Amino acid sequence: MRILGIESSCDECSAAVVEDGRRVLSNIVLSQVDFHKPYYGVVPEIASRKHIEWIRPVVEDSLKEAGTSAREIDAVAVTFRPGLIGSLLVGLSFAKGLAWALGKPLIGVDHILAHLYAPHLERDIDYPYLGLLVSGGHTIIARVERYDRIVVLGTTIDDACGEAFDKVAKHYDIGFPGGVAIDRLSKSGNPRAFHFPKPSLHKGEAFYDVSYSGLKTAVIHQSGQFWDGKSEKSVANIAASFQKAAIDILVDRTLAAAADMGLRRIVAGGGVAANSYLRARMAAEPGIEVIFPSLKLCTDNAAMVAGFACHALMEGKVSDFTLNAEARVPMFKRKYP
Ligand code: KG4
Ligand code: ZN
Repeated sequence: MRILGIESSCDECSAAVVEDGRRVLSNIVLSQVDFHKPYYGVVPEIASRKHIEWIRPVVEDSLKEAGTSAREIDAVAVTFRPGLIGSLLVGLSFAKGLAWALGKPLIGVDHILAHLYAPHLERDIDYPYLGLLVSGGHTIIARVERYDRIVVLGTTIDDACGEAFDKVAKHYDIGFPGGVAIDRLSKSGNPRAFHFPKPSLHKGEAFYDVSYSGLKTAVIHQSGQFWDGKSEKSVANIAASFQKAAIDILVDRTLAAAADMGLRRIVAGGGVAANSYLRARMAAEPGIEVIFPSLKLCTDNAAMVAGFACHALMEGKVSDFTLNAEARVPMFKRKYP
C-alpha cells in the first residue's frame, strides 16, 4: 500500500511517499527558514504564499524520488489540523484536488498524532507507551494507546517548549529557529552559571502540566538575579542554563507520569525532540526504554503523515471531501482527539 502524504501546517512544505506505513520511499522537506529568519518567527502570510508556490513541485519531486506515478498511489493523506490556517488550507486544497482528479481516497491527518507516529517509521514500537510531544506549538505528555488515540496527561499551561526556545533566542539574537541555535550555542556554555526558576506545580491533577512563560521572562529580563556570581555573564552561559532549566522541567514531569502510569517505554516526537541535552538526559535514565526518532523525523515532515494514514486506510477511516482545516484543537485532559 503506497500513500502520498502532504504536510504544510507551518513553514515546512513537505511531501512523501510511504509504503505499508513503514518504508519511506521519499520524504521531501522544503524549509522556509530563510524567508522567516529576518522576523525571528514564522510569518503566516509569507508561509502560505510560499506553500502555494512550492506545493506542486514538492509533490512532483516526492513521486519522482519514490519512483512512482500519481496513478500508482492508493490514497492522498494530508495534515488538516492544527496549524496555521492559511498554510493548512494550501496543503488540504491541493490534496483534495489531487485525490478527486485521481479518484483516490483522501485521508485527513491530525498533526499531533502524526508527530507521535514518526518513530514508528523507523522501528516496531508496541503500545501503550508514554508519549512526549514537544514542538513549537505543542507540549504534550500523554499515554499513547494506539496510533490514533492518546490520553492527554499534561500540557503546557502557557507557552509551548519550542516557543520558549524561539523567544529566548530572539531576545538574545542567537538565531532562528531558536531551538537549533540555543542547542548549538549551549555546547560552549556552562549550564550551571544561572539558576533559573522552575514552576512549582504540586502533586494533584495538574502535576504533569508544564509552564514556560515564567522561565522565559526570567531569562529575558532578570538574568542577573539568577547568576552564580562567578561564571561569565555570557550569552552562551545564559543559553546553556536556560536549556537545562527548560528541558529539566520536561524530563521531571515525563518521568513522573511514566512512573505513575506504570509505563516503562517513553517515545518522544516534535522539533524539540531533536534537542541534544533532552536526548542525553533521557538516555541516562535507568530502567526505562527511551525512543527518539532520527532528527529529520522530529521536525515537520510528510512521511509521518503518510505513515499514519496507511493505518487509517486499512481501517477504512477515510475523509469526506467536505473536510475543512482547523487551526486549533482544544486540548483537554482526556482522550484525544
Ligand atoms: O515540530 P516542529 O518542526 O514544528 C511544529 O510543529 O512546531 O518544531 C519546531 C520547533 C521550533 O520551536 C524549534 O525551535 C524547535 O522545534 N527545535 C528545537 C531544536 N530543533 C528544533 N528545540 C530545541 N532543540 C533543538 N535542537
Ligand atoms: Zn510539528
